[in-house]
Amino acid sequence: MRKVLFASSECVPFIKTGGLADVVGSLPKCFDKEYYDVRVILPKYSCMAQKWKDMMEYKTHFYMDFAGKSQYVGVLETVYDGVTFYFIDNEYYFTGDKPYTDHHWDIEKFMFFDRAALSALPVIGFRPDVIHCHDWQTGLIPVYLHDSFAGGDFYRGIKSVMTIHNLKFQGNDNAERFMWLSGLSSYYMTYDKLKTGIDGNMLKGGLVYADAITTVSDSYAEEIKTDFYGEGLNGLMVARKNDLRGIVNGIDYDDYNPETDKMIACNYNINNVLEKKIENKRALQEELGLIRDDNKFMVGIVSRLTDQKGFDLIAYMMEKMCQQDMQIVVLGTGEAKYEDMFRHFAWKYPGKVSANIYYSEAMSHKIYASCDAFLMPSLFEPCGLSQLMSLRYGTLPIVRETGGLKDTVQPFNQFDRTGTGFSFKNYNAHEMYNALMFAMYIYIDRRAEWNGIIKSAMSKDFSWQASARKYQDMYDWLIG
Ligand code: ADP
Ligand code: GLC
Repeated sequence: MRKVLFASSECVPFIKTGGLADVVGSLPKCFDKEYYDVRVILPKYSCMAQKWKDMMEYKTHFYMDFAGKSQYVGVLETVYDGVTFYFIDNEYYFTGDKPYTDHHWDIEKFMFFDRAALSALPVIGFRPDVIHCHDWQTGLIPVYLHDSFAGGDFYRGIKSVMTIHNLKFQGNDNAERFMWLSGLSSYYMTYDKLKTGIDGNMLKGGLVYADAITTVSDSYAEEIKTDFYGEGLNGLMVARKNDLRGIVNGIDYDDYNPETDKMIACNYNINNVLEKKIENKRALQEELGLIRDDNKFMVGIVSRLTDQKGFDLIAYMMEKMCQQDMQIVVLGTGEAKYEDMFRHFAWKYPGKVSANIYYSEAMSHKIYASCDAFLMPSLFEPCGLSQLMSLRYGTLPIVRETGGLKDTVQPFNQFDRTGTGFSFKNYNAHEMYNALMFAMYIYIDRRAEWNGIIKSAMSKDFSWQASARKYQDMYDWLIG
């Protein structure tokens, strides 16, 4: 049996702020259970819903020296959907109403988590062959394996993988503070190791010391070797190109299944989508106070409202879009300027624009099921899951050709009538608008072709099957 431990700062159903949680929550159960024992370790945040906390069982606790103090480390455990989850408990660090808060505090919090997660392993008696780390929050684990944990027999030979879900966030902080908190010596504070600028950098540590690096799509694996997408680490990505691979994300085919989804008004599948999907649109128009009209082109957005997702293009074109005969449904939270922009247009165009500035799993499912198209014009996109969810529900994505969007959405070709969505190349508001107008034209004037695209979109396989096998191959290669 090959043993793997996922280390992450979020994971569905326990805690989620974005796609990272979807991946860490849905991938472990897709490995071949006969050969792979994949477990997950997470912080136990006080903001987790009580029903999850009630499921956790106390396993052990110990004290660990960290940041000049002896600190409590509790370990709780639960088995959910056939996967074992461990939770690191410390009420000083993991309080608050969300997992991430102040930048400096987050650095200290996740350094503590990285050290505690490693320290907990011998105590709970689980020795993984591979520790699979996700994003900057777990970047110090490969470094510690090389440093203070390298001596003991227990840790010797444990391999590490660093997966980049988003290279933009790196977890850096002033080198002096970084060394003091992490306990790492000045040996690590050089530009070929953890240093960037005047800072120590957690993600860079993971990328230098991990035995293998992955990211969440082939295109992003190429893009991060360039200046534009490399976030200052492109040199390192080039240096480690032989250890870097892209493995595209999947989605949970049980949670996101239009045939069984309990959150949507009317279930459907690829055979009856053309008759049944419309019921969802009617229900959403009713619920959100939009004009009730089966034939209005309804465009959905479910997203963090940040620059990464291309909202400056949307902001630039929003007035023009509202002049068109379409409905726009937004669900998201994020930067105030974008929240206010959507609130403004919802006020100016009632019945046409619906701005839902909050977080809701149920509403996201309703939007994926109800809209005709889904707009995601990202500036960069390591993979993107929302477009996969849309495809699964027969809601056609309109995306910019970048990262995972480029790899998962095949643009409609009106000559051979292939494709699963619509796309544009340059980060340009007019190009986005033209792609949107082209999609609307196909929807209104060439409905039979539109319906054909729906069928193509729904027939694609974005489950974890193929990608889980690629991760297994990588673990096999690492373990030898
Ligand atoms: P990212 O991780 O960069 O935010 P992804 O497309 O990979 O982007 O994943 C986003 C996930 O978060 C999807 O599951 C999407 O449905 C969900 N999501 C984003 N905003 C909201 C929201 N306001 N309410 C509910 N779900 C949301
Ligand atoms: C990040 C990326 C997103 C990706 C997700 C899961 O949040 O922004 O593109 O889908 O991680 O890998």
